[in-house]
Amino acid sequence: MANRVLVTGGAGFIGSHVADRFVAEGWEVTILDDLSSGREENMPSGARFVRGDITTPEAAMLVRDGRFDVLCHLAAQIDVRRSVLDPVYDATRNILGTLNLMEAVKTSGHTTRTIFSSTGGALYGDFDPPPSMETLSKDPEAPYGIAKLSVEYYLAYYGRVHGLDTVALRYGNVYGPRQDPHGEAGVVAIFCNRLLDGRALTVFGNGEQTRDYVYAGDVAGANFAAATCALPPRGRLDARAFNIGTGVETSVNALAETLREVSGGTAPIAYAPARAGELARSALQTQKARDVLGWGPTVSLREGLSRTFRFFADRRGGVTA
Ligand SMILES: NC(=O)c1ccc[n+]([C@@H]2O[C@H](COP(=O)([O-])OP(=O)(O)OC[C@H]3O[C@@H](n4cnc5c(N)ncnc54)[C@H](O)[C@@H]3O)[C@@H](O)[C@H]2O)c1
Repeated sequence: MANRVLVTGGAGFIGSHVADRFVAEGWEVTILDDLSSGREENMPSGARFVRGDITTPEAAMLVRDGRFDVLCHLAAQIDVRRSVLDPVYDATRNILGTLNLMEAVKTSGHTTRTIFSSTGGALYGDFDPPPSMETLSKDPEAPYGIAKLSVEYYLAYYGRVHGLDTVALRYGNVYGPRQDPHGEAGVVAIFCNRLLDGRALTVFGNGEQTRDYVYAGDVAGANFAAATCALPPRGRLDARAFNIGTGVETSVNALAETLREVSGGTAPIAYAPARAGELARSALQTQKARDVLGWGPTVSLREGLSRTFRFFADRRGGVTA
């Protein structure tokens, strides 16, 4: 019998790449998504789709009765700025929604490995020079990161106290085809659209702020590796947490330049005042993922940006300004 995976948020950007990967590996894939930001056309045809909200009793029932071997939990409110404006909304979806699913896993009587989509970019704060290791102290700057960290504490609790099989993957700034301008690497989608429109690329501050950009297909590979590998014993918060990134710091200036090159676009770069609360530097140390998950990034930034730009161009029917 095929292995069974439930992908919450599988109609979204990263979740659809995760679903693609499990379908390609011959797993039986179910997607749970309320389509609040996801799209039906993102989902692979080989997956079963259940439309629903992770905060509801129906979602809990799906998890409890579904006999899933793996739960890849990606459904979330992903907008860091929205979490600042409305932390209650953010916590309802990102903390309470996850607890609803975890309680269902606990009572299901089935062994389900839960793989949680956490963040490396919004967890560690700006106090130590990158690349950040998993064990670094956590100082999230926004309710979004606080909610992700809270869920990680709950996962460690469910592991230690109830013996559940849980993993947290802390992504860098994920980019790739189907991405949304509101996500943590939204700048890539915004720049692609501006290049297609022939409009200036707006850079906030001096553009030397850095991020760790990781390709969505590689993040899907990390989910698959975490679903299938032997994991270290459950223990402290970081015991089963893995940074998923490249370890490379890329400045916004370098990103804009590379995107201009791969797109053949000539749009100018326009500088605007720095935004409050933005980290100066961020990159993730990924040795632990290499050692334990046997995972490492395979797509270079130039190749990934080129694929992403082509996706946005194709979506417009290949029309570029
Ligand atoms: N994009 C990044 O750079 C990045 C970085 C770190 C972590 N993450 C995490 O990865 C996950 C996926 O992010 P994404 O960028 O693909 O975002 P996305 O918005 O494209 O995907 C989220 C999906 O979840 C669905 N969803 C939202 N709330 C739901 C609910 N209450 N019930 C059911 N479905 C719901 C949406 O419709 C959407 O399809 C999120 O947990 C996010 O926090 C993303």
